[in-house]
Amino acid sequence: MNRAPHVVVHPDADVLAEATAARLLTRLVDLQSDHSPVHVVLTGGTVGIAVLRAVAASPVRGAVDWSDVHVWWGDERFLPDGDPDRNEVQAREALLDALGDALPADHVHAMPARTAQVPDTDAAARLYAAELARHAPADADLAVPSFDVLLLGMGPDGHVASLFPGHATLSVSDRTVVGEDDSPKPPPPRVSLTFPAIQAAAEVWVVAAGDGKADAVAAALRGAPSTEVPAAGAVGAVRTLWLLDVAAASHVAVDAGETRSEPGPARRQTEGPGSTWAEVDELVAPLLGDLTVPDSIASAATAAALPDIAVSAPQGRLLELLTRATGARRVLELGTLGGYSTWWLARGAGPEGVVVSLELSADHAAVARRSLDATDIGHRVQIEIGPATATLERMIHEGTEAFDLVFVDADKQSLARYLDLVVALSRPGTVIVVDNVVRGGAVLEADHPDARVQGTRQFLERVAQRADVEGTVIQTVGRKGYDGMAILVVR
Ligand code: SAH
Ligand code: DHB
Ligand code: MG
Repeated sequence: MNRAPHVVVHPDADVLAEATAARLLTRLVDLQSDHSPVHVVLTGGTVGIAVLRAVAASPVRGAVDWSDVHVWWGDERFLPDGDPDRNEVQAREALLDALGDALPADHVHAMPARTAQVPDTDAAARLYAAELARHAPADADLAVPSFDVLLLGMGPDGHVASLFPGHATLSVSDRTVVGEDDSPKPPPPRVSLTFPAIQAAAEVWVVAAGDGKADAVAAALRGAPSTEVPAAGAVGAVRTLWLLDVAAASHVAVDAGETRSEPGPARRQTEGPGSTWAEVDELVAPLLGDLTVPDSIASAATAAALPDIAVSAPQGRLLELLTRATGARRVLELGTLGGYSTWWLARGAGPEGVVVSLELSADHAAVARRSLDATDIGHRVQIEIGPATATLERMIHEGTEAFDLVFVDADKQSLARYLDLVVALSRPGTVIVVDNVVRGGAVLEADHPDARVQGTRQFLERVAQRADVEGTVIQTVGRKGYDGMAILVVR
């Protein structure tokens, strides 16, 4: 639901900087009511520094507990300490010096400067990667802190951080930080976060002003390959925001689901809260059945602060009706989360039916167990904790009886493998439903840096290859934005 970038357009560059500063301050305050510490990644550039100046000048600055904030950089010019062209030096002048002792010195994680001990960008990149790793959560997939907000500027060529079009740094996936010795923009030597490190951030905010950026903005939002327009790969794990002035937004197609905050006639948005797609989901809600979703199920994921990625109610109802229409009694699910889709599947399977749901996270499984047990169908759901691949392999090995219907909705990286394993647990006629196979249209992009997109593309190829499954993909819009479901039948 959160794949589509959200675009906000402001009248001019000054308002953009002020509004971004206000947004950042508000976000920091909100984040601090939720967890500690908060990690924010700064950017250089004209707009980036203007934002920091606006933060420094804001009366709301004092509402943030700066002692709890860690400051990082997305990239740096590899220059001697104190060089006025360093992003760090400019950020200190614009904001950090003004915060004084409120922001502890050891919370300011500048990228290394050039010294005798750190003579080249590779050495600097290694040092910064180690510093990131020191602040990474123990269970992190990638050795970086839990970046809450990562700010990025963008160049007219579409570069973000120091990831430039056509450069080898764009495809680095085994490191969090890289050296760049040949920046087309002076000075040539740079240090930059890589795409995996950027995309690990919960929120990525791309801030751009001026008509020189208009083409690159439009190309990135159209989903150009990130090898050509690196900004297309500036995607947050939870949310991606494009904060633009009118000039930078001037070439963006108007149906991209953006919000315009400039004065003008209100226009109905297709996507996002209160949009046409979301409201049609509301309109059809009365069709979805006599039973409304029990509170314990509807609110479980939100209450436990799980990601808001359960299927929508109309999609859940589709799962229920497919299950019932095919007379499925044995249902398998990959990806339980809070048990929302599980509940619809259990309803469809009827009083004689069972749902076996596979979930990696013991925490998610516990939330689902509790919420399902608060309904009258919890006893028909069995949750298996662990990586789905291992559980499926075990079930195959044990000769588990075939399932009648399968809903695949766990991690997207492994989708092709899941298809093979699930078919091995099927019989002719088994229905396999696979969620999130369109991803806002990102599946069109062969070079998309997001492993979920690549996993989905591999899955679609696998379906086409396998002679023993027939199927279709239905594109969907609704509360969760633009996506799609594959519906397959085993021959
Ligand atoms: N089907 C749910 C949403 C699932 S979200 C619903 O619509 O209500 C995806 C879930 O897959 C998450 O809970 C995540 O923890 C789980 N997951 C991620 N990787 C997994 C893996 N390798 N094996 C099993 N589950 C996994
Ligand atoms: C994501 C996963 C989902 O299962 C979903 O329905 C929506 C988004 C995700 O990982 O981004
Ligand atoms: Mg899903």
